[in-house]
Amino acid sequence: MTSVPLRLRDHSYDVLIGPGVRTSLAEVVRRLGARRAVVVSARPESWVPDTGVETLLLPARDGEQDKTLATVEALCGEFVRFGLTRSDVVVSCGGGTTTDVVGLAAALYHRGVPVVHLPTSLLAQVDASVGGKTAVNLPAGKNLVGAYWQPSAVLCDTDYLSTLPPREKLNGLGEIARCHFIGAADLRGLPPAEQIAASVTLKARIVEMDERDTGVRHLLNYGHTLGHALERATDFALRHGEAVAVGTVFAGVLAGALGRIDQARVEEHREVVRYYGLPTALPVEADTAALVRLMRHDKKAITGLAFVLDGPKGAELVSDVPQEAVAHALDRMPRAPLADLVGEAVLGASTTDTARK
Ligand code: GLY
Repeated sequence: MTSVPLRLRDHSYDVLIGPGVRTSLAEVVRRLGARRAVVVSARPESWVPDTGVETLLLPARDGEQDKTLATVEALCGEFVRFGLTRSDVVVSCGGGTTTDVVGLAAALYHRGVPVVHLPTSLLAQVDASVGGKTAVNLPAGKNLVGAYWQPSAVLCDTDYLSTLPPREKLNGLGEIARCHFIGAADLRGLPPAEQIAASVTLKARIVEMDERDTGVRHLLNYGHTLGHALERATDFALRHGEAVAVGTVFAGVLAGALGRIDQARVEEHREVVRYYGLPTALPVEADTAALVRLMRHDKKAITGLAFVLDGPKGAELVSDVPQEAVAHALDRMPRAPLADLVGEAVLGASTTDTARK
């Protein structure tokens, strides 16, 4: 078991990673002094560990469709009926959409009640459940309403990952791959628990420096400017991690075109992404002009087109990248039919799994 501390000025917690760490839940709840717990779970009851206190178990569904203010309101209504107080605890068990919506309900209920996350997907373990960002969607877009609400503990039980479908694993591997370019060591070839621990450690150090995402936390969005655009351009046929993977390859191509890195480093982007079995090409269906338009609307684009790009001093946020340079770099990317990219991703995931065994 690995324990990664996350130390903030007024709140600290540990992220536990390893097989069976979910059984630490009762000890975490005991230390919080909670007398009641509400567990909101998108997984079967047998996946939810004992809390050690009187517990209300509420079913949830992973997926963007339930990441709404209506879900937050319904959860808070259940908290009231159960008699949950500010000294009790809310527990989330599920993928990143579940930890996001439950985290927001915990942030708002009684102006904030402790929350413990039990992320069950690789994406949620390496990224979504750590760092305190919670949010729901509006019809106008994803994650438009949210709050920073740090959990009291995160239990990344790697036993949960054994049943994940290949594409769900890829979703998390996209975030692990991008760590290569924002300060992590080379994680290729390491056992999954070590890759998770290294990714979480990197994220914890970044969040400690910039909890509210006003500076260095932008680094976590490596590959995301194009990644978000690709998710939308493909109507979410490309999963988040797959889109971030293509966005990471593109970040290399763009940094190369801007003279920030040499050709070997550009190629390293492709090699790392390919190693994890992730797609490296743009879908032929996504037209360059449409992608540029979507990137202009990305919420990270504060003034003009902004990308986190590698460079002589490492990765940094580069604002106002000329639109022509972006379009030109997009045109230099290899293209493949979307169906092939998704198929390649599934085959790639099985190959990577076999290689790891
Ligand atoms: N997922 C990016 C962040 O937590 O800032």
